Amino acid sequence: MTTEYRRLRVALLGAGAVGSQVAALLLRHGDELADRAGAALELAGIAVRDVDAPRDVDLPKELFTTDAESLVLGADIVIELIGGIEPARTSILQAIGSGADVVTANKALLATHGPELFEAADRVGASVYYEAAAAGAIPIIRPLRDSLAGDRVVRIMGIVNGTTNYILDRMETEGADFAEVLADAQRLGYAEADPTADVEGYDAAQKAAILASLAFHTAVPLDAVHREGITSITASMIDEARSAGFVIKLLAVCERLEADGSESISVRVYPALVPQSHPLASVHGANNAVFVEAEAAGSLMFYGAGAGGVQTASAVLGDVVSAARRHIAGGVGVGESTRANLPIVPIGHVTTRYQITLEVSDAPGVLATVAGTLSDGGVSVATVVQTVEGEAEPTARLVIGTHRATEQALSATVDALAESAVVEGVVSVLRVEGE
Ligand code: NDP
Ligand code: HSE
Repeated sequence: MTTEYRRLRVALLGAGAVGSQVAALLLRHGDELADRAGAALELAGIAVRDVDAPRDVDLPKELFTTDAESLVLGADIVIELIGGIEPARTSILQAIGSGADVVTANKALLATHGPELFEAADRVGASVYYEAAAAGAIPIIRPLRDSLAGDRVVRIMGIVNGTTNYILDRMETEGADFAEVLADAQRLGYAEADPTADVEGYDAAQKAAILASLAFHTAVPLDAVHREGITSITASMIDEARSAGFVIKLLAVCERLEADGSESISVRVYPALVPQSHPLASVHGANNAVFVEAEAAGSLMFYGAGAGGVQTASAVLGDVVSAARRHIAGGVGVGESTRANLPIVPIGHVTTRYQITLEVSDAPGVLATVAGTLSDGGVSVATVVQTVEGEAEPTARLVIGTHRATEQALSATVDALAESAVVEGVVSVLRVEGE
């Protein structure tokens, strides 16, 4: 016997790498999804820029339109997969205003206009679902928002950008060239429309803001996230990291800090040295992983595909089923929890361990001078490895591991080292995370 379900009209905005796969899966598995959602999900239309553009999958031509507004205004659930700020923001506000629930994968929009969208949804009792906005197919938004709602998250260390992990991994395993690997990531549909968002860490910073907001019940604006990308990482830095027992990963680190009885948080994105024995070191290709430490639960690791059209479509469709269930059952929407309102400390006050690589002349007293500069800056040395190259005019490479130091102290000390007569060059300065 076929169950008669209430019909819900689903509007899809965007049919690119993710949207085309969402449409295909929705059409292919409609009956099954209806049983799970308790509602028939009717794909009412797909708004795009160019209805004649080639698509990754075959989709019925008659579903396509360039009139996003009319599509949105007649929908119960709106899936926004256009990306960027406008017209995505306006369409989502129109959807909420007309009583629809929204599903989006748009981290750029959520990280910059999240509070506006959530407030608009709260006012009318609608919901905004965004599982695909951080770490692609990996369920991490629900675990942070629901499963860990009774715990206190202490730290998140995440590989949350597939493109940069793919690039660093191929540089590490094949000695591949940065530009060539980036072109492959674009071809495979991992990279953002403008890949600067990936390689300069903007995409990871947006995801870090979203994850930290959920984990610490605090609104984290994007400009409070310290961000560095991977464009300065060279093959020789990767080789040196390997020799020292590390891999280089672009990390999003969200941390709860405690000092003098008060709490604050730090949210930062940068390439860091991760010990080869850490679970994050074995995250390869475009995969993502989010390592969460919580007071009661201990360490949890969420791992899987962080990018890719069909993989991300899985997370989007999970949200569509949730939105349909809520639409049928009624009740208030899923609100954001920002009550803790913890202060966000600037990067200068964050402490980590560092590895500093210097080229110095191989002469008596050089090591003592370098050690003196570090000591004057209040940076304590944990390890030193020296290698010497050349015979007539030998130069030495010093790899110095520090104890924990504040970013402020470290960067003033590195400036002093760069000025020092015995230092020929500062080759690299990388933080160490996950020890
Ligand atoms: P694409 O660039 O592949 O697709 C964008 C789609 O939006 C295209 O179909 C395009 O239409 C349509 N579009 C663009 N502008 C307009 C407009 N003004 N009006 C109507 N339609 C428009 O993006 P992705 O599928 O890669 O990404 C979609 C979202 O998912 C983004 O927010 C992205 O950050 C996020 N995301 C992507 C992942 C991935 O692996 N790709 C993973 C996780 C999240 P047309 O085809 O006609 O040009
Ligand atoms: N460009 C993003 C990435 C897509 O490489 O991770 C997933 O958000």
